[in-house]
Amino acid sequence: MKVLIVGSGGREHAIAWKVAQSKRVEKIYCAPGNAGIEEYAECVNIGAMEFDKLTAFAMEKGIDLTVIGMDDPLVGGVVDAFEAKGLRVFGPRQLAAMIEGSKAFSKDLMKKYNIPTAAYENFDDPKKALEYLETAKMPIVLKADGLALGKGVLICNTLEEAKEGVKSIMEDKQFGSAGNRMVIEEFMTGREVSVLCFCDGTHVVPMTSAQDHKRAQDGDQGLNTGGMGTFSPSPFYTPEIAAFCEENIYKPTMAAMKAEGRDFVGILFVGLMLTQDGPKVLEYNARFGDPETQVVLPRMKTDIVDVFEACIDGKLDEIQLEFEDNAAVCVVLASDGYPVKYDKGFVISGLDTFKEHEGYYCFHAGTKRTDAGIVTNGGRVLGVTAKGTDLKEARANAYKATEWVSFDNKYMRHDIGKAIDEA
Ligand code: AMP
Ligand code: GLY
Repeated sequence: MKVLIVGSGGREHAIAWKVAQSKRVEKIYCAPGNAGIEEYAECVNIGAMEFDKLTAFAMEKGIDLTVIGMDDPLVGGVVDAFEAKGLRVFGPRQLAAMIEGSKAFSKDLMKKYNIPTAAYENFDDPKKALEYLETAKMPIVLKADGLALGKGVLICNTLEEAKEGVKSIMEDKQFGSAGNRMVIEEFMTGREVSVLCFCDGTHVVPMTSAQDHKRAQDGDQGLNTGGMGTFSPSPFYTPEIAAFCEENIYKPTMAAMKAEGRDFVGILFVGLMLTQDGPKVLEYNARFGDPETQVVLPRMKTDIVDVFEACIDGKLDEIQLEFEDNAAVCVVLASDGYPVKYDKGFVISGLDTFKEHEGYYCFHAGTKRTDAGIVTNGGRVLGVTAKGTDLKEARANAYKATEWVSFDNKYMRHDIGKAIDEA
């Protein structure tokens, strides 16, 4: 079969790599793709938001299955556009992608269906938000309602900071129209875990767990980023916690979406905080996580194309999802200055070393092919991933592999997976 993947980051590189393992797949296309994805897929110069061009391309090439990696097109209705043309596509429809597209919607859903999450209030008037803050307990968390590249969350320690935050989100529109509404919520403490789940509208099957590192600098200092590294599985996500989450979070979320007429088909990403009062939902996303995918898919044994199709056909209960009994760590190599200001266009060397080593992967996030070779083309450049028999070995392997590649302004965190030592 022919598969089209929509997106251009490390996540889509990992998806393309995994789809390429399927014996059923003869040809992969990626729109728009990147220099790493080219190894498995023919990259076509169509943007992820160009729905008419994407569907026309899928029809012209006789694509059997399209997989959407990114949130923007999902929230914008790309799945509905494909379905309207009778094309098979993996991802939630616009109505269901709302679970990521509006934080106010997802909080109201959790409240209505008793799914554990932080206490909150929604606001569309900055004056009301400022009034509310006067009596609120600090620290407090401010979230722009809409999509903001994972950066629309402000954690404020003082009333002053919180007031400034409301102004910058709702009045100065720091995150654009995503800040027309906002959620103000209780600050929670605990370990964070990401669990990606396959969903077919009725059934939900969680994958192995992972943990991201969102801050730019060691010791969880600095600004929030799209993610600086991940490990999988999380040693803190015990079988008891997993069972609790299945019964009290994943299944109820699927049932809630169905009850609301928003049947969820695709990947439900559940960001969890393991608090003293039990696991609570930090956020939902309607797609694979980046860079969680880079540590989860290399450990997955099941043919992913079979799983995608079972989701679309409502037959996920017939799938035995299996993961290897090992661990993986991904260290993101970024451009110095990310997420604020950084230079691009530096030649990357050493990429071929990964081809000589089993269990090591170099997923491209922001790269471009030029006459001079493959160059840096984004804030996050590469996701260096390695497997190991356990987390410590995987971490040592991943850091060893970060030395294989070099480019000017290479920057990384040195403490990805430090939490492993406390497990
Ligand atoms: P989100 O995009 O909602 O996942 O938020 C980004 C990050 O902000 C999360 O990964 C957490 O580290 C942090 N965060 C979000 N909500 C809360 C909360 N209620 N309490 C504490 N930290 C939070
Ligand atoms: N790693 C967090 C996300 O994909 O949103």
